[in-house]
Amino acid sequence: MPARALNIPKTIEWVNGRVRLINQLKLPQKLEYIETDRYERVAEAIKKMEIRGAPAIGVAAAFALALAAVKSNAKTYGELLEDLRRAADALRKTRPTAKNLFWAIDRILKKAEELSGRDVNEVREGVLNEALRIAKEDEEANRKIGEYGERFIEDGDVILTICNAGSLATYYYGTALAPIYKAWEDGKKISVIALETRPYLQGARLTAFELKQAGIPVKIATDNAVGFILSRGMVNKAFVGADRITLTGHVVNKIGTYTLAVLAKKHGVPLYVCAPTSTIDPQTPIEKVVIEERPAEEVLFIGGYRIAPEGVGAIYYAFDITPPELVTAIITEKGVAEPPFNKSLPRLLGA
Ligand code: MRU
Repeated sequence: MPARALNIPKTIEWVNGRVRLINQLKLPQKLEYIETDRYERVAEAIKKMEIRGAPAIGVAAAFALALAAVKSNAKTYGELLEDLRRAADALRKTRPTAKNLFWAIDRILKKAEELSGRDVNEVREGVLNEALRIAKEDEEANRKIGEYGERFIEDGDVILTICNAGSLATYYYGTALAPIYKAWEDGKKISVIALETRPYLQGARLTAFELKQAGIPVKIATDNAVGFILSRGMVNKAFVGADRITLTGHVVNKIGTYTLAVLAKKHGVPLYVCAPTSTIDPQTPIEKVVIEERPAEEVLFIGGYRIAPEGVGAIYYAFDITPPELVTAIITEKGVAEPPFNKSLPRLLGA
């Protein structure tokens, strides 16, 4: 029995043939849900970042394909597969960087292909069950990440994080926040400094929301305070998530992670990257990973209010790349990979 009970949100659920997800654009002011039985609406939610976070958008895509299967009017296996492939193509176009999205889509299509020639209803059911399995496995993986990661957390630690790699970014329990939740459940006295993470403010709006709900002390810091905070010795560990990790150990994560990593190294603070193995990309070399660029308006406006003069553009890369030499360890559900990652990650994936 954990020493403390946790109260953290569930981002997305399959409820009576519909998908229900928290509209993260409304947090923390309103806890509002989107409910739909149309895969197109789920795709739109991913694109608009009403749901975001690598594992969460993987689960959302899997549920969207389940909706596409269940709602399809197909009479034959071939027609159903065609409908699924059309939905998969639309989902692939939503966001380019997080590996989990493509991993989940491929896994569902593979399942449908394995059921080749079966009755269409059997295929519909098979696809739905696979999507539910992806969701369940995500929570199980995160709980394992929590167990492996907690070993690096001591009583009294102040932990730095960026973006939101918590329950809201996954099916449940989070990745970078999982070791923090586990340490908290086990009674360790810890607190968190969350970088606010301009421009979408995942740290200020989402990480602070779920940590507060869990009862874990959290303070927000502006992104540009990270160097000074580290130089003052105000944190002893940094935990971050990942959207894609290459076999070389390059970590693609929220913009600002690289800055945090360079400064953490400079000040001797270990940096732990937490991610399920569905985030690891065994094929793509780092030079070929697409770094999402989002509309300039998301930088130029805050809450509908323009913060820069008319006619001025903005640079908005949603992610950056942290090279392996800045990473202390990569914590997955299969265990902890340590440098050199080009040796430990393939070993871990093979396990
Ligand atoms: O643009 P976002 O909010 O989808 O980016 C999310 C992140 O960068 C997270 O750190 C990452 O997806 C890991 S989430 C468990």
